[in-house]
Amino acid sequence: MDLLKLLNEMTVDEKLAQMTQLVPQIITDKGEGVITGPMRNFGITKKETSSVGTLLGASGAKQIKDLQDFHLSEDPHKIPLLFMADVIHGYRTLYPVPLGLGASFDVDLAEKCCAMAAKEASVGGIHVTFAPMIDLVRDARWGRCMETTGEDPYLNSKMSAAMVKGFQGDFSKDKIAACVKHFAAYGACDGGRDYDAVEMGDHTLREYYLPAYKAAVDAGVELVMTSFNTLNGIPSSANKYLVDDILRKEWGFDGIVISDFNAFYEMISHGICEDEKDCAKKALDATSDIEMMSTCFVKYGKELLEEGAITEKQLDDAVLRILRLKEKLGLFDNPYRAADEEAEKKIHLCAEHRELAREAAEKSAVLLKNDGVLPFDKNVKKVAIIGPVADHGMIGGWYCCGKSSEAISVIAGVKNAVPNAEIVFARGCSAHPNEKAEEVADLIDEAISLAKDADAVILCLGEEIDMSGEAHSRARISVSDSQTELIKRVCEVNKKTAVVFYCGRPLALEKIDDVSPATVIFWHPGTEGGNALANLLFGNVNFQAKLPMTFPREGQSPYYYNHLRTGRPNTNSGYCLGYSDTPYKPVYPFGYGLSYTSFDISAPVLSRTEMATDESITVTVNVKNVGNCSGIETVQLYIQDVTASVARPVKELKGYQKVCLAPGESATVSFDITIEELKFHTFCGKYDAEKGKFKVFVGNHSDIETFETFELK
Ligand code: GLC
Repeated sequence: MDLLKLLNEMTVDEKLAQMTQLVPQIITDKGEGVITGPMRNFGITKKETSSVGTLLGASGAKQIKDLQDFHLSEDPHKIPLLFMADVIHGYRTLYPVPLGLGASFDVDLAEKCCAMAAKEASVGGIHVTFAPMIDLVRDARWGRCMETTGEDPYLNSKMSAAMVKGFQGDFSKDKIAACVKHFAAYGACDGGRDYDAVEMGDHTLREYYLPAYKAAVDAGVELVMTSFNTLNGIPSSANKYLVDDILRKEWGFDGIVISDFNAFYEMISHGICEDEKDCAKKALDATSDIEMMSTCFVKYGKELLEEGAITEKQLDDAVLRILRLKEKLGLFDNPYRAADEEAEKKIHLCAEHRELAREAAEKSAVLLKNDGVLPFDKNVKKVAIIGPVADHGMIGGWYCCGKSSEAISVIAGVKNAVPNAEIVFARGCSAHPNEKAEEVADLIDEAISLAKDADAVILCLGEEIDMSGEAHSRARISVSDSQTELIKRVCEVNKKTAVVFYCGRPLALEKIDDVSPATVIFWHPGTEGGNALANLLFGNVNFQAKLPMTFPREGQSPYYYNHLRTGRPNTNSGYCLGYSDTPYKPVYPFGYGLSYTSFDISAPVLSRTEMATDESITVTVNVKNVGNCSGIETVQLYIQDVTASVARPVKELKGYQKVCLAPGESATVSFDITIEELKFHTFCGKYDAEKGKFKVFVGNHSDIETFETFELK
């Protein structure tokens, strides 16, 4: 296809429509799609919609083929539509929410899951996914913790690159284009309140918040979505510094920049635009290419052009980027691409995909505590399953085309794992965070009556899937009063109890931590959650995941392990960092997670204690399985830059390795430290390492205190 020739044949109105993304409902009364934002009268005409460039929210081979046919019958240049959707943690077969995948610390697993999602989405007619969402987050109150892989820039960057590769790969027909989001720093919203302002210095932005987006760009991501929030007073949709200076000029990104839902229009509410015409101008000047679910471009672009406020080159650059992606996806040759109803029936929810979803849920579950009650004996006679989230599939917030009815509940999973056991169920309470115990006294009593003589009790608590996600921030992250009372009462009558939290964020567990004999964080596990949990609790598989976010106490958020050094570090004495009413340390630290076995990790041995900038140091530890079953340990390397031109974190994750050991088996684990592991954004803004002392920590979570030192000469 001669794209330049096509471009030159397009009118200005057609170019502006090509730069517009709508839901199917707006272009045809037959269309229907998932609505993921506020709807209003967009004031767009039938003529304008006939040339629109892309749709979001449609899915399914038949629907997409019909919409494509309808559009091509209307579009004067027969330019195929791009179909985009939120394939965030699966399309039809759902794996754990990304915060759970982050807990797996397994980038190969993340890549495989995204590849599976791409395969299902492509036969469902999708061309682009609005993923990976890789916003670094330090505040557990934010609803969208569930959608990202956590608080660490190193882990997020590795996950980001792996997810882009999984979705896009070699761009064959079972792949889809990826769109990294939300650029930038959306996870740092004030108070953890979704959509609120973000204020941060350039050092913090570049050192912690930008790396994972850069990793996606370096991995070849085709699109970047700008975020709703202001960054230092400027909404990302109009933030030239972010989008033009950093993303395009510094990083060399020449793909498509797309807004978030209605975000251009919302710049009026932000108070930086007078009207929609001003929105269009500012968004274009920030080199945005596609306007999602608002119509500033189509309504005012031509006027701006005639006034000389924008140039036709700005439009041509944007339209060319969009046409190039359509060409790369092969849409001009085959507007249906991989959409295929027969393939949908064969591939969606196939055994292989369910198997991967189950494996991902098993590898994402974090065992926080085990007083020996787990694993349960497979020869149990009676299992009591209690809780509001035990009797249905917990598929996760961005469930795309997945259905809870197609997912395995805990009850179904336990039946599969121990088919001869009697299984009894009681709801016990609801998942509502403000529910009081006295409101559900009868439900709790009923649960106690079932639990007291069971051979095993599984408490399934925490959050429903709609209690995390966009526009679902919480001011308090504690376990509710009713759930706390239920846990206490059940554990009083039966110590053979496992407390399993379903959640899309860290929860404040301090009120139940001492009471619970065994605590599991299961996130929102997806289609195979029930089977995965049963396999874990009955010992068919072992736990191996680690926390990708700190689990703080109520009131501590934002809290993150790699916090800066201070002049008065916490010493639990007066005049030091901390609170007067709450312990300083979180309930569980970043990187923490148990296994059914235990591992001894020796003190690190450094190959040298001095290093020139062109040399490296090998750090070696010996890991031994000192328990009585096989297990996988994630050995983590942290470094502290002792003295630098800016205050540096107490420690930063710079590497990790998983090691699988049989009982009694040992292995040597080595990490190489080069100048690259020591670089940071220095006071004068250079990305470089500075000479001086460094501390090296190696362990199985971030709250390690022993270290060795070396010096960069
Ligand atoms: C939503 C979300 C964004 C999503 C988009 C399209 O508002 O912020 O993550 O991809 O709209 O659904």
